[in-house]
Amino acid sequence: MAVALSHRKTVSNVYSDAQAAAVAAADMIEARLEAGTLHTFGVATGSSPSPVYRELSRRALSFSDVTVFALDEYLGLVPEHPQSYRAVIEREVIVPLAVSPHQVHLPDGADPAGYDQMIADHGGIDLQVLGIGRNGHVGFNEPGSPFDSRTRIVDLDDSTRAANARFFPSIDDVPRWAVTQGIATILAAHSLLVVASGGEKAHAVSAALDGPRTERLPASVLRDHRDVTWILDRDAAAMLRGSANKSTAEGTT
Ligand code: GLP
Repeated sequence: MAVALSHRKTVSNVYSDAQAAAVAAADMIEARLEAGTLHTFGVATGSSPSPVYRELSRRALSFSDVTVFALDEYLGLVPEHPQSYRAVIEREVIVPLAVSPHQVHLPDGADPAGYDQMIADHGGIDLQVLGIGRNGHVGFNEPGSPFDSRTRIVDLDDSTRAANARFFPSIDDVPRWAVTQGIATILAAHSLLVVASGGEKAHAVSAALDGPRTERLPASVLRDHRDVTWILDRDAAAMLRGSANKSTAEGTT
């Protein structure tokens, strides 16, 4: 059950585990694709969205007419670096979903504003997938990011670099800067799909859904969006205290 708050709709659904959450997220994306309402698809990297793309790749779907926009990218890594988001999206989205590389765009540190323009020129993003950082970041919009921010270059928090160090030989190898869609860029997408799994996200999820709306917790602004769906596993939802705009559907796997 979704509860509409004036023109806004926030739904949060809780599933038994990360795989069940990925199936639910893939169902939503597939439904958009089948309905012909997924011309532009915003993709996020991260441990929560990854299983969603894997699940989509198991289905007989065609993304050949879909233009893909990435949420963010590190600065300072060559595109061929295995941890550049271009490389991650190549492995997780382009190859498994058979998307033409020409249809995939990532923000460019040399022209951040041009990215917002490119998105606008495509009629906006129909459905943007988001993960959430342990500190409540969305994309690489770290705490303190202005809610009216657009695609821009940002410094990465030490806590984010520490969280992402698992993908690099050492924390010193984790980039210090990134280019990310801004908060206002993200809010301009027609629909948002936030995927979070694991107990490490429980605090950020509860703060985003139940805590104050504050730039100190960037994900808290997502409640301003008119159509946002949170798909959570039980661990990520563990600290939700239950709010007026939360509905719960237990997964079945
Ligand atoms: C990364 C990405 C975000 C992602 C988040 C969570 O740094 N820039 O887009 O949502 O952090 O990632 P993970 O799910 O791997 O913890």
